[in-house]
Amino acid sequence: MLGPDYKKKLWLANIAALCLICSTVTITLYYDPQSPASQPTPTKPIVLLWFWPLGVQFDLNGCLTHFNIDSCVLTDNRSLYSEAKGVIFFHRDISWGLKNMPKGPRPAFQKWVWYHVESPTNTAKLPGLDNLFNLTLSYRRDADIKKDKLVCWIVSNNNEHTGTAVREQYYHELSKHIEIHVFGSAFGGQRLHYEDYYSTIASCKFYLSFENSVHRDYITEKVNGPLVAGTVPVVLGPPRENYEQFLPSDAFIHIKDFPDAKSLAQFLLGMNDEAYMRYFEWRKFFTANPHLLSLYNEFLQPICLACNRMSKDWDFHVVHDLYKWYFK
Ligand SMILES: *[C@@H]1O[C@H](CO)[C@@H](O)[C@H](O)[C@H]1NC(C)=O
Ligand SMILES: *[C@@H]1O[C@H](CO)[C@@H](O)[C@H](O)[C@H]1NC(C)=O
Repeated sequence: MLGPDYKKKLWLANIAALCLICSTVTITLYYDPQSPASQPTPTKPIVLLWFWPLGVQFDLNGCLTHFNIDSCVLTDNRSLYSEAKGVIFFHRDISWGLKNMPKGPRPAFQKWVWYHVESPTNTAKLPGLDNLFNLTLSYRRDADIKKDKLVCWIVSNNNEHTGTAVREQYYHELSKHIEIHVFGSAFGGQRLHYEDYYSTIASCKFYLSFENSVHRDYITEKVNGPLVAGTVPVVLGPPRENYEQFLPSDAFIHIKDFPDAKSLAQFLLGMNDEAYMRYFEWRKFFTANPHLLSLYNEFLQPICLACNRMSKDWDFHVVHDLYKWYFK
């Protein structure tokens, strides 16, 4: 039943699933009118997954176990429709004429989330979707739920005896020309929880995969992490040819592709969406396997991010011309 096309779809879904992160929205506490002491009562919003994407079911508790997200009540129980603050619709599952969409009144507080994982080339322009959704969830960086950092680095080891001087020097030079979000204990940054590893990397467009020392074939999980998370690795290590023996040549950026750190910074800063998406072409043919943490499911992470967003989202929002935006 599941042909190669289905498999490819899952791969594409994988890209989108992993490319996303919530934009940071200030958390507003609200007050239970019942409670005269006006104690802030953090009520978790209900987020309803209207369809299982492509019929694939997964454990909705995975948001907590895999991404440490526990800020909404995720459900597939349509009886909770009238109470749901967010309802997520997977584009491919919406039928023509919108026949399988909710019937009956739509609560004023409710937001509909358009969830789509394919590129415009593979998108059916189903009529009737304008002015229907409030939020979008897709690979696009200008989707409402998205990557919010340009360059990141998780680094805990700056012990010079392990050979870190080369990468440190490069980092210092690069950071003069571009902002780098540093996580991990090496430079007094915050130590990341194990559960936050992939989602942190996924929140960045580029990730510094700097090996602590430079040796032939010494190419580690520092490259795998971003490949898994849907982020483009910027590698420092053995020559490009050596990386290409392990990875597709268009899956990464090598610091030696540039004469110096300044030109690399300019390249990263100036990259448009089209050029950026070319670093994701290889994902049609290969898939990166997670290390240490296993990513539970292609579709889980975006759903979790949407869950998190719904718990922080208080603004009025309408997606007016869905396809104009998506095919732009
Ligand atoms: C769905 O929610 C309704 C209303 O809360 C509840 O009565 C019903 O048991 C739920 N169904 C499932 C399958 O959990
Ligand atoms: C969501 O979008 C619908 C359809 O355009 C609109 O009627 C509704 O007011 C919006 N709701 C919110 C909470 O933004």
